[in-house]
Formats: sequence, structure tokens, C-alpha cells
Amino acid sequence: MVKKIRKAVFPVAGLGTRFLPATKVMPKEMLTIVDKPLIQYSVEEAIEAGIEEFILVTGRGKQLLEDHFDHAYELETILAKRGKAQELDVIERIIPDPGRMSYTRQRHPLGLGHAVWCARQFIKNEPFAVLLPDDLILAKPGCLKQMVSAYENIGGNIVAIEEVPREHTMRYGILDVAEDDGYLARARGLIEKPTPDHAPSTLSIIGRYILQPEVFNHLDKHETGTGGEIQLTDAIANTVGDIPFHGIRFEGVRYDCGTKSGFVAANLAFALERNDLEADIRAIIKDLV
Ligand code: G1P
Repeated sequence: MVKKIRKAVFPVAGLGTRFLPATKVMPKEMLTIVDKPLIQYSVEEAIEAGIEEFILVTGRGKQLLEDHFDHAYELETILAKRGKAQELDVIERIIPDPGRMSYTRQRHPLGLGHAVWCARQFIKNEPFAVLLPDDLILAKPGCLKQMVSAYENIGGNIVAIEEVPREHTMRYGILDVAEDDGYLARARGLIEKPTPDHAPSTLSIIGRYILQPEVFNHLDKHETGTGGEIQLTDAIANTVGDIPFHGIRFEGVRYDCGTKSGFVAANLAFALERNDLEADIRAIIKDLV
């Protein structure tokens, strides 16, 4: 029996420079897809997967994220007075129970591995999930829930993967595959952002992980890797041999909301999923193209 995944880390300290000026004063995780901020999609995906504790690794200027998951008394009072029960429900439903959401600051941008390491006191000695809110995944059930189901059988460290064109390997962590049944790829290693000619495969890691606390043993050393950053990829690579490591080809579509085109695509795709918007958006797209 594997230990239940109860905790999830959300690294949200990034500056979001690609989205300036939108992100000058607003955290990039508050950018909206249709009518919901990115961070809320990943928190909801985590809830669906059974996560009970949420750790946001923030940075300077990210206070809005805390406010988003708290009461907004003035707004709530006005909505209540006006009898706007539905709107009230929409903003109250997202507030976690007291003590379920914690925040810790990554004071220096030293890499994804370092951001996850900043959450170590909250994780302690349990397996945990990591969700990168920039990677928005349209999937039913959600990507993390699919991973948790696989985890219950295989345990170990698991990442979500997808095939990428070889010329894009420099953007991702890439798996070195030992066995592949078309759904699960057992890996003997992984490399952060290899050049196309050095990439051991074209299976890329996307921003969903289930990790064993042993990854902290490597992260504790603060060793830098690709780009001079402390890489989560290196910490996972370090456990291979001791802990099983698999990539899972989730069912669904991933939108890279860290890029403008991915962000716009996500808005369209998520709008098309909505009964109240689908017909209008279809007509608009048809008109435009
Ligand atoms: C991070 C990880 C990389 C992973 C990617 C997924 O890179 O380091 O291994 O493939 O997320 O989005 P970043 O996009 O932060 O450069």
C-alpha cells in the first residue's frame, strides 16, 4: 500500500516577464482563463485528486494570491444584500478550510528545485504532488487524479509526460526511457533541457509531479544544474535506482500558459467547454478565420 498523496506544492514565485505589462502589479498566476485565474484551476485539479493541504511557494508582489483564497467581506456583504446567491457561492466556494493553505516565500529565484525545497517543512516525510499552474490541462478526470490512480499501483516518483518535437527538447525535462507500454514509461534517468542531439527521447515532463520526500536529500545540497539553477529534474534523477520513476501519458490537452499563444489557445479551448459560451465562441472563431 502506498502512502496517500495529501499535500501539494504550487511554485508561484515566478515574475511572469513574458506577460508584461499585464504582470507588472498582478501575479501571472492571476491571469484569467475565461473567468477564473490560473492558480484556481490547479488548486481545483489538486482538490479533485484528493489533496488536503496546499502549499504556495510565493515571492514578493504575490499577495493577491493570498487574498484570492480569503474572504472579501465588502464584496460578500454587497452580494448578499443584493440577493446574488450564485455569485456569492462562486467566491466563497474557493476558500480553503482554515489551515489548509499555507504560504512560504522563495526569497531568491534559484530554480524550480529550490522553490520546491522551500516547502520542505510543510511536506515533512510524506509523498507529495507538485503542480505548475502555467501548465493548464484540460482533462476529465484531471491530470493529477489520473496520476494518483497510477501511483496507487506503481508508487515511486511520477511525472506527467507528452511527446514533443525534437527541436523543442531544450524547453523541458526529458526522460531517458527504459521501458514503454504506450501509457507508462519507466525511466532510467531524466535530463533538464537537453539540446536535440543530446536528448535521450522526445518525452517531455510537463508541470505535474508526484514525488517521494527523498527528493529533498538532493535538494538540500543546493547543487546547480542547467541554466545555473537548482533543478527539480536533477533531484528526481538522483533517486533513480532507489525509487521507481515513471512518466505517464495523461489523457487530455496541456496548454502552456507561460506563452502568449498557449494562453490564448487555453482561453478558447476552455470557453468552448462551457455551455454558456460555446455557441458564441464558435461563431466568433469562424468569423475571424
Ligand atoms: C520546468 C521544469 C521542466 C519541465 C517544465 C514543464 O521548466 O524544469 O523540467 O519540463 O517545467 O513546464 P520551466 O518551464 O520552469 O523552465
